[in-house]
Parts: sequence; C-alpha cells; structure tokens
Amino acid sequence: MELIDSIKDVRIATARTLATRSGRTAAGRCLIEGPGLIRQLVDAGAGLEYVLRSAGADDPALCAELTAAGVGVHAVRDGLLRKVTGGAKPVDWLAVAALPAESPVGDAYGDFAVVCEQVADPGNLGTIVRTARALGVRDIVLTDETTDLSSRRVLDAARGAVLGCRVRRFADPGGAVASLRESGFQIVVTSPRGTHLQSTAPLRGRKVALVVGNETEGVSEATLAAADLVVQIPMAGAVESLNVGVAAGISIYELRMKAILAMLTDRIRDTLGRNLTAAAHLVRQAFDAHLRQVGDLDSSQAVLLMVLACERSTPLEQLRRDVGVGSAELQELLAPLCDRGHVTQGQDHVAITREGERAIAALWAVQERVEDGLYAGFTPAERDQLQELLHRVQNNAARLASSPADRRGAADTP
Ligand SMILES: C[S@@+](CC[C@H](N)C(=O)[O-])C[C@H]1O[C@@H](n2cnc3c(N)ncnc32)[C@H](O)[C@@H]1O
Repeated sequence: MELIDSIKDVRIATARTLATRSGRTAAGRCLIEGPGLIRQLVDAGAGLEYVLRSAGADDPALCAELTAAGVGVHAVRDGLLRKVTGGAKPVDWLAVAALPAESPVGDAYGDFAVVCEQVADPGNLGTIVRTARALGVRDIVLTDETTDLSSRRVLDAARGAVLGCRVRRFADPGGAVASLRESGFQIVVTSPRGTHLQSTAPLRGRKVALVVGNETEGVSEATLAAADLVVQIPMAGAVESLNVGVAAGISIYELRMKAILAMLTDRIRDTLGRNLTAAAHLVRQAFDAHLRQVGDLDSSQAVLLMVLACERSTPLEQLRRDVGVGSAELQELLAPLCDRGHVTQGQDHVAITREGERAIAALWAVQERVEDGLYAGFTPAERDQLQELLHRVQNNAARLASSPADRRGAADTP
C-alpha cells in the first residue's frame, strides 16, 4: 500500500490549509479528527472526502467501512499528521469533510431556530449544536462575522453535528432578530433575570427563535429590548447563571415540548368525535332554551315524545334503542311524562296519550324554529349535503361499534 511520507503531498497540503478558519472557509471543507468521530460520521452518511491515517494506527474494520462507503483511506508516515493540525498531541486519524454551505439568509427555516449571540467558547458552541440536533433542531443562527463552527474544538464538542446543521449568519444581532421576525418567528430570549419563568411563558404560535448569549455579558440590551419574551430557567442556591450550553439544552427541550403539547391539544380539539360531541351538546342546549319558553319538558323528554308520536305504542326495548339511552335512564325520562299524563307505561310497552299528543303538537313548532336557527346561513343544497354526510358518519360509527374487525377496513362508502 502506498505510504505518504512528504508534507508536500497534495492530500497533506490540502489538509494543512484546513487548519485555519480562512482556509476552511475558502475550501468549504474541514478536518475531522479521531477514529470514533470518523466512524460516527461515515455511519451517518456525512460527506467525507478522504481519510489520512498514521501507518502505525491500523483499524481494518474502519478501513473496510470507509472503503465500502467510497471514501479513500491513505496511510501516512507516523508523526506527519501532527504537522497538519499543528497541535501538540499526536494525531493518528484525520478526515477531510465537506462543510455545509451557510444557508442564504432568506431560505426557509424549520419551526425552531437557535440564535447564538456572541457565544465565544468552542466547547459551548459545539454543545449547543449537538444538543439542538439531538432535539430535532437544524437551524443555527449566528449574529456576527467571526463565530466559527468549523474549528476542530467545535466539531469535537458537537461530535460532528455541525455537518448536519443549517447555519445562517448575520452581521449583527439586530439584523438577525428583524429577519427572524419577518419569517414568522417569535423571539424568545433567555436570561437568568428573565421576566417570565420559562415553563409558564405565554408562547404564541409555534415558531420559536431561541436566543442564548455570551458567557460573560449574556444577551445584549438591544436584543433583550427587541424580544417578544425574556425567559428564565429558575435556579436554586447562590448561582449567578447556568452554563450557556446547559441553558440552551434545557430551553430547547422545554420549549419544544410546549410546542408539541400545543399541537396535540389543537389536534384533539379538532377530532371528528370531539366536534360532533360538542355540536350535540350545543344543539341540546339551544333546544332546551327554546323548550323552556313553552313548557316544562326538556329536550330528552321531547325527543322521546316525538318518537312515541310516530309509533303511538312502542316496546320499551325498542324505545330505549331509538332514543339511545340505557334502561335506567329511560325510566328516569318516562317517570315525569307518566306523572303529567303524557304517556302510559305497561309491562313492556309505552304509549302516548291525547295529552301527550297535544304537548307534542306545540313542540313541533319549537323544533322547526330551532332547526331553522341551526341551519341559518346554509343554502338548501348545503343543508341536504350536511344531512347526508352526518348519516354517513352515523352509519360508519354504527359499523365500527358493532364489529371490532370492521375497524381495520371501515371506509365510508358514499
Ligand atoms: C453564563 S450566562 C451569562 C451570564 C451573564 N452574566 C448574564 O447575566 O446574562 C450565558 C447565557 O446562558 C443563558 N442562561 C444562563 N443561565 C440562565 C438562566 N437561569 N435562565 C435563562 N437563561 C440562562 C443565557 O442565554 C445567558 O445569556
């Protein structure tokens, strides 16, 4: 196998240019150090271009994995790789990887962005990126020209997660906040002295741009003033603040959970079952309100009388099914109607009386009035359509209720 032993070899020379930020920016590439991180990135399908390994540091399994992924592995004279990185520690494995281009400022974002305002420590930056990616956030916003996410220390701390991020860079925090707001984000700034406890902060909508600040200065006064919310993570004991990487992790997790819960609540509110139940409840209330104006029957008793008016005399069991109640509930509904002489009850039949028929005659007018009100604003065609759709839902529901096996294949057939 070929052994690279000259610092002038083009692969070594290319790698050397990536030791500086300007070299990385010009080439759009970075260096990944160590077999663990290289293996992790090749597993994740990251764009590794080639790998350099010291001759004395063989790892046949990793070499096979890299070769299978189409990544060339080149053996290098021991000690040469340290000259590439310029560090004091010996280096045995180095990969050259493509850096994701910084996204154009106007590109579409996801629902959550992390804004790093002058976060200076590479370890903290890497931790924030790593945690953000682990919690499903890809958008990282930088608010100056100097923060560098491609340095070895950031890449190490991020365990390579930088390569899967969408990074946007603004010249200053004001420009970042204005642009994010224009893209529909609410600006949530974190500060140990935030005016809202983060867990109870009144978020609106789902898009959150979370701003974390510099290790010493925190978030600037201008950004604090421009925020929609300034939130704090409560701290016990004599602690001035949390480490920014830790604070970012807690905030991303908690605010994302809040957004997910809000989304679930919206979904539950909009399920068909919930909408039909709410509609039935409101219709009943409307009917009751109008019935109270003409007598002392409530809507359940009125429906029961209407069913009886059609059949005159009905078996108790059928009446129970028609009205959709249990036996005990049916008896509760019948008792006041019997007392008022509207119905008579035999052993297993119920019949409507002349008094009941007179009461029902007055109720039809109420029924029509309420129905007209319920259909207010509907065209005749829409009225028919709604009735047809409701019948179809009822048929589907009856089918689902009667046989669990139907649940798998139940489809509405018009
Ligand atoms: C080390 S702190 C900065 C401390 C700085 N002296 C200050 O008062 O803001 C770095 C960043 O971590 C975040 N942070 C730290 N502790 C926090 C807390 N308890 N609540 C919310 N954010 C916090 C903020 O984004 C802060 O700007």
